[in-house]
Amino acid sequence: MPPSALPDTSAPATPADLTGRLYLGCDYNPEQWDPAVWREDVVLMREAGVSLVAVNVFGWSDVEPAAGRYDFSRLDAVLDLLHAHGIRANLGTGTSSPPPWLTAAHPEVLPVMADGTTRYPGGRQAWCPSSPVFRRLALDLVEQVARRYGSHPAVALWHVSNELGCHNAHCFCDESARAFRRWLEHRHGSVDGLNRAWGTSFWSQRYTAWDEVLPPRLTVSTPNPAQVLDFHRFSSDELLDHLRAETAVLRRHSSVPVTTNFMVTAHQRQMDYWGWAPHVDVVAQDHYLDHRLPDPAAELSFTADTTRGLAGGGPWILMEHSTSAVNWQPVNVAKVPGEMLRNSLTHLARGADGLCFFQWRASAQGAEKFHSALVPHAGTDSRVWREVLELGRTLEALQEVAGTTVQADVALVFSWQSWWAADGEGRPSTEVRYLEQVHAAYGALRAAGVTVDVVPPGRSLSGYRLVVVPELYLVTDDEAAAITRYVADGGHALVTFFSGIVDEDDRVRLGGHPGAFRDLLGVSTQEFHPLPVGREVHLDDGARGRLWVEDLATLTAKPVRTAVDGPLPGVPVVTRNDHGAGVGWYVATALDPASYAALVSEVAAAAGARVEPAAGPLVEVVRRAGAERRYVFVVNHSADPVDVPVMGLELITGEEVRGLRVPAGAVRVVREKEEL
Ligand code: GLA
Repeated sequence: MPPSALPDTSAPATPADLTGRLYLGCDYNPEQWDPAVWREDVVLMREAGVSLVAVNVFGWSDVEPAAGRYDFSRLDAVLDLLHAHGIRANLGTGTSSPPPWLTAAHPEVLPVMADGTTRYPGGRQAWCPSSPVFRRLALDLVEQVARRYGSHPAVALWHVSNELGCHNAHCFCDESARAFRRWLEHRHGSVDGLNRAWGTSFWSQRYTAWDEVLPPRLTVSTPNPAQVLDFHRFSSDELLDHLRAETAVLRRHSSVPVTTNFMVTAHQRQMDYWGWAPHVDVVAQDHYLDHRLPDPAAELSFTADTTRGLAGGGPWILMEHSTSAVNWQPVNVAKVPGEMLRNSLTHLARGADGLCFFQWRASAQGAEKFHSALVPHAGTDSRVWREVLELGRTLEALQEVAGTTVQADVALVFSWQSWWAADGEGRPSTEVRYLEQVHAAYGALRAAGVTVDVVPPGRSLSGYRLVVVPELYLVTDDEAAAITRYVADGGHALVTFFSGIVDEDDRVRLGGHPGAFRDLLGVSTQEFHPLPVGREVHLDDGARGRLWVEDLATLTAKPVRTAVDGPLPGVPVVTRNDHGAGVGWYVATALDPASYAALVSEVAAAAGARVEPAAGPLVEVVRRAGAERRYVFVVNHSADPVDVPVMGLELITGEEVRGLRVPAGAVRVVREKEEL
């Protein structure tokens, strides 16, 4: 079968080559194998329809075996072999992990933790993002790679470093301290400005000179939260600066599009990707199911929708996911039959046009030898390989979906900065965690059959029927104004507790919570009443709330649900406020999932937002549409068949359907008939 592929031409690649068709890909690490295996690899890749492979991602010690001595013979051979078989390369700059000769000669590049201890080589990514020595040596390598392969016909995409910040996002060394001070001076202008922003009158922290300022190294007590917040911002910016520096070198030698793999995931919160996305030509994301979470499949959907938001609503590349188990969770749960297809096609339903995996062939050695791959240890006479072939065939059947966009009329506001600030020390309850509240809101929407776009705070919201704002603790005046204006102009906003509390310097907005949204929501709270673990409040409609209630007074809002017990019986917990031409809804507790989904359905109906009746916690219904055609994706995670009221051509089975029955565990995609 021909690869479901990028065009096999010698013309320079463009971002459109990467988004105009559906394709299958993977990380390919041939340096782990004998060249005889490579020849088998390319044949198998063609059989599966793999057409884009990431190479040289961890290639530094291979292509620069000693300082300044380059040996590209192996990479030349690999790229030529790929090209001869019509497989394009997503070529790594190779800088993600410095080789031992480098860290031995320049130990100052090693990262230092908050407690002052150094992290040594022996793993990967042992480098300080602010190290000028590392930067210089990395850019030297990029220069060599870009010069040599900048117009190689196999190269369709540049892959800068790898998962920037995965292990080394925060470095507290002296070099980082100097860079942090420069960054702070740029942000705050003067030491006085810094003192104001950080509120250093508290606890005798007033600075008199820049040299006194440090990264938030380990302290004996609670650190200054504004200092910690700025360090998060600084650290994200330092890595972005690295991405931009490598990109600048690539652009001098090549017109091939540039990307790096983002990690929108529950266990990585260090990079504010809203600021990064404009700096890549095509947004790429890595995702692995996280079985430490209560609902891994819902988190997958959330990250896919967020990645689409980073891509401005357009197509994006899933740069890595797994055929089965990973090797870095406490229990590495293997995927059951059909689960890989459901996972892959959920990303596709939510806007990914390229579906890539880590990695091609399961390693026999090294830290990731128990990580799944397209070719497992068992070889190709295996269920995993057969499912890979099935995925390749399915992508071929779905080719016409490429380039279409996901249809959503509800937005969810998500903010890395609120995540950093809200989860800081010294808050009302450590049981209230930002991402969990975002996931709870998203889960309620997904269970209610509402497809959402994930957007950054401050983005224009016009065109949406409803905007959901979970725990937006930190919000600037402008960002709050964008939401308030949207409601005044006729939109509906649903805001949840611990939102609108502080400004960009983590300074509390006075006069009653939720400061920034008080007028929009028509409520004012004097005091939070976080609930101890295991304690619940009951609401007058039978719903249950956890974690939180607050001493809330309605100003102009009307109570929708009220507490019947708990610390504040009779207090409003859900309110509705007419504001201008729209409505502001407030939810001041963590509702149980079923009640949350019911409330979201009620609010979506009031707002006139689209609700998919067949969807539920285990059934996803998502629409993609182009200028002329509309597609309905149904992913059935449940053990029962599901019926969906849709008519048209089902692309995977090739059947015309009038009312679609999706078998248990299956995925179906219908090109809708116009009459619907
Ligand atoms: C990340 C990395 C890969 C690999 C996988 C394993 O996504 O980019 O190199 O380590 O994790 O899940």
